[in-house]
Amino acid sequence: IARRAAGPDLAGRHVVISAGGTREPLDPVRFLGNRSSGKQGYALARTAAARGARVTLIAANTSLPDPAGADVVPVGTAVELREAVLRAAADADAVVMAAAVADFRPAVYAAGKIKKKDDQEPEPITLVRNPDILAEISAPRARPGQVVVGFAAETDDVLANGRAKLKRKGCDFLVVNEVGERKTFGAEENEAVVLGADGSETPVPHGPKEALADTVWDLVAERLG
Ligand code: CTP
Ligand code: CA
Repeated sequence: IARRAAGPDLAGRHVVISAGGTREPLDPVRFLGNRSSGKQGYALARTAAARGARVTLIAANTSLPDPAGADVVPVGTAVELREAVLRAAADADAVVMAAAVADFRPAVYAAGKIKKKDDQEPEPITLVRNPDILAEISAPRARPGQVVVGFAAETDDVLANGRAKLKRKGCDFLVVNEVGERKTFGAEENEAVVLGADGSETPVPHGPKEALADTVWDLVAERLG
């Protein structure tokens, strides 16, 4: 149940939000990417600003209007996103990782465009793991009492997967979405459950991404006290 906040309950707070999706370059013209639009992260930024927070929005490959009053930091790759998040998190009261971070990147970046060769099959692409930013900022925290929130899109056993992931990452809250054919990616609306490390479970009914964002800030503000 979304509890609408009364007044600027995040005044004096610095919140950091990552949004969008990272792109991992193969050569100067190609990348591995994902379908994240950034809309949920931008909704988090708008609602936090409306509730009085100082907002740093780390935007990975988005094409959305800058939220009024937010400090927007554009990034491309997961490694760049990590740098920007770690820097901004140093003095943050809360960090919300809404960005879709590529789990892997090409092991090699070709400085010149990869060309076809006559009568030859393509070379396989070797991938290496990207850093897990959410796990890294969760333990140890940059500041005592800092609240860390992750997002997860799951299929199949959505809640059990979410619980396991929350524990593995070590964050305070994990917003779990069920993904399917037309759900979540690029959509204007969202439906989710916010799992708390304390065992709490806050369902958010199908509705605008602002409503989910406000529920996240309700929980963060309550935790910050
Ligand atoms: N995340 C991150 N760094 C990564 C991967 C994910 O910070 N390298 C963050 C995302 O921003 C999100 C959360 O972790 O807030 C969960 O992302 P998800 O892809 O669901 O988690 P993974 O651990 O990558 O699990 P999976 O194997 O299911 O993709
Ligand atoms: Ca992943």
